[in-house]
Amino acid sequence: MSDIIKILSEKVANQIAAGEVIQRPSSAIKELLENAVDAGSTYIQVIVKDVGKTLLQIIDNGCGMSANDANICIERHATSKIQKTDDLFNIRTMGFRGEALASIAAIAHVAIKTKRKEDDLGTLINIEGSKIIEKEPCGCSDGTSVAVKNLFYNVPARRNFLKSNPVEMRHVIDEFQRIALAYPHIKFSLISNDAELFQLKEGTLRQRIVAVFGRNYNQRLVPVAEETSLVKISGFIGKPEYAKKTRGEQFFFVNKRFIKNGYLHHAVQNAFQDLIHNDCHPSYFLFLDSDPRSIDINIHPTKTEIKFENDRSIYAMLHAAIKQSLGKYNIAPMLDFDKEPSFDIPPLSPGASIKIPDVKLDTTYNPFDVNQSSSPLNKGMPTEKNKVKWQDLYKSEKVTQRIPEPDVLITTMEEKKPSQLHNRFIISQIKSGIIVIDQHNASERILYEKYLSSLEKNNQSIQKQLFSKTIEMPPSDFELIMEMQDEITSLGFDVREFGKNTLVIEGVPSDASIEEAEELLEKVLEQFKLNITDIRVEKRDNLARSLAKSLSIKPGVPLEKKEMTALIDELFACDMPYYSPNGYPTITTMSIEDLNKKFGR
Ligand SMILES: Nc1ncnc2c1ncn2[C@@H]1O[C@H](COP(=O)(O)OP(=O)(O)OP(=O)(O)O)[C@@H](O)[C@H]1O
Ligand SMILES: [Mg+2]
Repeated sequence: MSDIIKILSEKVANQIAAGEVIQRPSSAIKELLENAVDAGSTYIQVIVKDVGKTLLQIIDNGCGMSANDANICIERHATSKIQKTDDLFNIRTMGFRGEALASIAAIAHVAIKTKRKEDDLGTLINIEGSKIIEKEPCGCSDGTSVAVKNLFYNVPARRNFLKSNPVEMRHVIDEFQRIALAYPHIKFSLISNDAELFQLKEGTLRQRIVAVFGRNYNQRLVPVAEETSLVKISGFIGKPEYAKKTRGEQFFFVNKRFIKNGYLHHAVQNAFQDLIHNDCHPSYFLFLDSDPRSIDINIHPTKTEIKFENDRSIYAMLHAAIKQSLGKYNIAPMLDFDKEPSFDIPPLSPGASIKIPDVKLDTTYNPFDVNQSSSPLNKGMPTEKNKVKWQDLYKSEKVTQRIPEPDVLITTMEEKKPSQLHNRFIISQIKSGIIVIDQHNASERILYEKYLSSLEKNNQSIQKQLFSKTIEMPPSDFELIMEMQDEITSLGFDVREFGKNTLVIEGVPSDASIEEAEELLEKVLEQFKLNITDIRVEKRDNLARSLAKSLSIKPGVPLEKKEMTALIDELFACDMPYYSPNGYPTITTMSIEDLNKKFGR
């Protein structure tokens, strides 16, 4: 077979959306993976060292290149995939610009080894600064290996602009997952610093999703299938009850290309309306296959945006297909999200009478006299020290806006007499009147301060369990846990690596039980990731917030008297009892004076 790569004419080259193709290691991985897929490979290996900054290598068993093609593949606009302008409107391959290898060769040291099946010998070329510095025949297996070393060696500004290794690694995993999901019939592996993160066998889409995100995804998936003359829709949506607060697993593939499209996302989100809470996002793995002539992929240099000729019709079809799946699998009618369990008031038993609370008041009490009481609540009196701390805590502009000035000073409690209202508020008597505590916000504050202090002191109050629990996690979550293992231990978790993407949990914080370990970790990670984008707090603060949120007493939970008393005491022992970690009030008070006024006195 003859050589196939041609340099595009200037006219065609100028019509290609140009721009920065390689911004970070993951963009190089994406481009090289796409080339391997276009080469018809059935097995693709990815190797990264130091998140790809030192080495990233893609080895495939695809069609390989002739010696001449290997010679020119790193030229700008050198491609075997299109030739004329018309081809731009009928793209069936991942690549078409002839830009990727040229862009990579310009900013890294590249070594390409490639061999076609029909050739006895392959070709090795070494490139530095876009120039071939070495070229020789070599013995190698069929296919192509592209090794990219010292990425951005000649553009230090871009190298310095890279985020921390964990963040860059997440980008790498994201790109890998996108391609792996789009091509379940191809075998893939990803090795990072000699550790195998993924080894994915060829299989169906369902098997691939489960292999990538963990076994428990199997039961979460609902199939979607619809075919019209305009578009074929296939794939899976996640059951509404598994919707997450973070936009985790949301994948659109158009002709097997991962794309981001707010309009189509809206169609899916909208089909889930009334089935999930407003702040939750459904997961989806959706494939749209359409005539390449009806779409334009040549609108953005990274090829992750797409324009449909008939976007309104596609929207309507997608929306209908999702609705149909939700209905067909009996999901829609089963749920009743309007019902708010916390407002369930148990009926009075026959003959029972309502007991009028006995209120004892000390009308001489002056709430502004700090010396007047020795109750434990005084521990929470806002001292000068605390006042300074509040201001510090709410320095961030975003949070400050939501926080009203504290309008009350908490005073002593002679007798708390706590009682619960609607299973969500605690009402208690204080000298100057009554105090209403929001049990959820208050317990979040208590736990937050407790966990923060454990993290600071590196305390380890692990509740050792008789039985351990083994859980499999999505690789990116697993990475995150491993990366924060010390902090997680300080919070009371006893977790160990137990094979690939699997953890064994032998202890959980004292406020939790081992049975809920998996759900708890999942919630904490979800909240942690949400906080990274939403409030940008520092890691330890974020962990303390996330665990506190996950374990806080929720509205709707009935409490016993002694639990309420303990909660009140612990709240006022906090450094900052008046607000939840997110700045919502924990308490409000009503003075006797206010009450008297209400009754016309
Ligand atoms: N792994 C590979 N196996 C076989 N041929 C390859 C491989 N990688 C690159 N090539 C050849 O080198 C050419 C240039 O690759 P490059 O990625 O730069 O451009 P492209 O894939 O054509 O377009 P794009 O810039 O959109 O990715 C390809 O068109 C292809 O012919
Ligand atoms: Mg390419």
